Amino acid sequence: MRRVSNSLIVVAHTLTVSSKLLLALSVLLVLELPFSGAAQKAAASATPYKDPAVATEKRVSDLLSRMTLEEKASMLAGSGWMESAPNERLGIPAIKMADGPMGVRAWYGSSAITNSSSPATMVMATSFPAGETMAATWDPDLVEREGVVIGQEVKALGRDMILGPTVNINREPLWGRNFEGYGEDPYLTSRMAVAYVRGVQSEGVIPSVKHFAANNEEYERHRIDEQIDERTLHEIYLPAFKAAVEEADAWTVMSAYNLVNGVHCGENAFLLDDVLRKEFGFKGFVVSDWGSTYSTAATVNAGMDLEMPGGEPMQKFIARPEVLAQGSGAGWLTADKVLAAVKAGEITEATLDRNVARILRVIFVSGLFDHPHVATGIVDTPEQRAVALQGATEGIVLLKNNGALLPLNAKKIHSIAVIGPNAGVARTGGGGSSLVRPKQAITPEEAIRAEVGLLSSAGVKVTYALGVGMEGENPEKDGSEARANLRKEAAEAAAQSDVAIVVAGRYPKLESESFDVATMDLPAGQDELIEAVEAANPHTIVVLNTGDPVTMTRWVDKTPALVFMGYGGQEGGKALANILFGVANPSGKLPVTMPKQFEDSPAYGHYPGEHLKVNYAEGIYVGYRYYDTKKVEPQFPFGYGMSYTTFEYYELEVHGGRIGTKEPTVTVTVKNTGSRAGAEVVELYIHDGHSKIDRPEHELKGFRRVELKPGESKQVEFWLGRQDLSYWSPEKKSWVADAGTFEVQVGGSSRDVQLKAPLEMR
Ligand code: BGC
Repeated sequence: MRRVSNSLIVVAHTLTVSSKLLLALSVLLVLELPFSGAAQKAAASATPYKDPAVATEKRVSDLLSRMTLEEKASMLAGSGWMESAPNERLGIPAIKMADGPMGVRAWYGSSAITNSSSPATMVMATSFPAGETMAATWDPDLVEREGVVIGQEVKALGRDMILGPTVNINREPLWGRNFEGYGEDPYLTSRMAVAYVRGVQSEGVIPSVKHFAANNEEYERHRIDEQIDERTLHEIYLPAFKAAVEEADAWTVMSAYNLVNGVHCGENAFLLDDVLRKEFGFKGFVVSDWGSTYSTAATVNAGMDLEMPGGEPMQKFIARPEVLAQGSGAGWLTADKVLAAVKAGEITEATLDRNVARILRVIFVSGLFDHPHVATGIVDTPEQRAVALQGATEGIVLLKNNGALLPLNAKKIHSIAVIGPNAGVARTGGGGSSLVRPKQAITPEEAIRAEVGLLSSAGVKVTYALGVGMEGENPEKDGSEARANLRKEAAEAAAQSDVAIVVAGRYPKLESESFDVATMDLPAGQDELIEAVEAANPHTIVVLNTGDPVTMTRWVDKTPALVFMGYGGQEGGKALANILFGVANPSGKLPVTMPKQFEDSPAYGHYPGEHLKVNYAEGIYVGYRYYDTKKVEPQFPFGYGMSYTTFEYYELEVHGGRIGTKEPTVTVTVKNTGSRAGAEVVELYIHDGHSKIDRPEHELKGFRRVELKPGESKQVEFWLGRQDLSYWSPEKKSWVADAGTFEVQVGGSSRDVQLKAPLEMR
């Protein structure tokens, strides 16, 4: 764990100017305390836990030794909806939390529901793109910067901890929270998880890597029992947690609602103890998901350290009949219940100490004990917004561009019809705990109008047509007659314009935490709208503003240009306009496979499960591991995305005998062969044709996003380790790479392998 308390300088060099100011302010505040100089030293040596110069473990044990049994028992549950329990006598602060991960989510008061419906009390912050859109950037440096600026906003709003990143894998296209995670691949997800955690923690803010483990569907999320074999867990569902712990030293992990192999995650000793702590070496604390505890002793003994929510808000929460009906659990680690279990001998005092120590350790290591955050209220700064815009722009994936319809030339176009239920509204993200209320958000229509205003002096006529009401949003527009009228209006607007842009997609009431998406199809009437507009205007651009893949078979072959916008946060509209008009060159690549239909997806037939059990029967064959191995043609493959320029790959070299050394194992040159500056994401896959066990066709083990000017080429280097060649052996219960010849594949998507070379491993 990084020791913030002992090495402020180490942290300070990664801080930005504003956070340095905050740090200076907090140091000043500390200096103003009644004690000073010798008196302070004396007090500190009498109470070592108060002394930042004392080693963390010593501070933890000293503080623990001063706590009564009752005080310790009261640390295991929150004191409010978003606060852990403080201890005033000993000066232990409450950890003040905020939801995330796509920015700091609205809440009001210090301890209440997190989703105020009143604008007067709503906390607003920068709304960043959804995790899936950030993953589409394939840019971990950017995700780390996102972590930094989100950390700044957490502090500015007087909080200490952000509930993110979400690193659960997109197992199938209908999970309501697919947009929150980083896609279907454990390697890509791991890189993003590490980056986000590093960024947040560099600000002294506590992240929470969630949801541990395998929260891959919302259906019956409190009761669903997932049958997942150990190999699949290790190869697909756990790597991002492992990476966040081993590489970023994550301070907390959030346990999931569901059961894995018969045991709730919050009392699953295999997951929490054998895997997370013993195998990965996790030293922080595990926090429950909100209402994911279902027992007292079993939960504490398994190593689930902090139950949330707590206090009065928790009591009100569990008093709601629908909460109990859903199978939500809470109120199991209250002080009285923990004490009773200790007295009954079901929990030993040593176990209680162990769990409390884990919470205290994070309070010290994060710097929270010594430097409480100073709430300045300053959020949504130009720097924070710039990160959000860059993410939204780099995260847009160009899927089709027949006849180079895009980018649009504002100087040549006279009229544009902007159409669709997601054109005139900023749909920044999916629903649920990740939805941030921004101070401002730009709609695609507004952004397109602004962009043509900037780019063309002659003036371009922009016409807006709704085309179809969003399903369930406004009953007046939902009837078949209303739809037919709106569609007609839109087709007319398209026919009278040089270009038509249809922004289709979902909204938080159809794609959200708490329930799965009902169908892979676009909401009612949107396919018909796209068909009608395409029939009216051959220059139609379809933009998809959703988190999950959608069925497009009805129209996609006729669509000249197709853009996957994902959920771009508050700057999504602007990012889209920048891409459409070529102010930015698309560089995003899909972090998920887009199947043609749900029936093609590997989990089909094993989702959502029956009788509260779901069998992950597809095993490790998730995403492209399935489509590429079983030769199922997707609509768009994993890792795919076009650019306005072109790239070529040369000189793939595998440097023998260098596995795991400091020398690069693989080098390849990529050249921009077109006439525009652009960025290519170079993807590296490993094919293992000789293993003793069934393995997928290939697996992503490296990638680099490379910016290239026209004509420019750059050599890209990859370092491979033994781990990158390994599979999880259920027999040996460890990672194994069978000696022999592997194949290194490099290219632009899982279906676009440009170069291959053998790699020997003895
Ligand atoms: C979600 C978590 C979230 C928590 C607190 C839960 O319902 O699953 O991701 O952080 O609520 O709002």
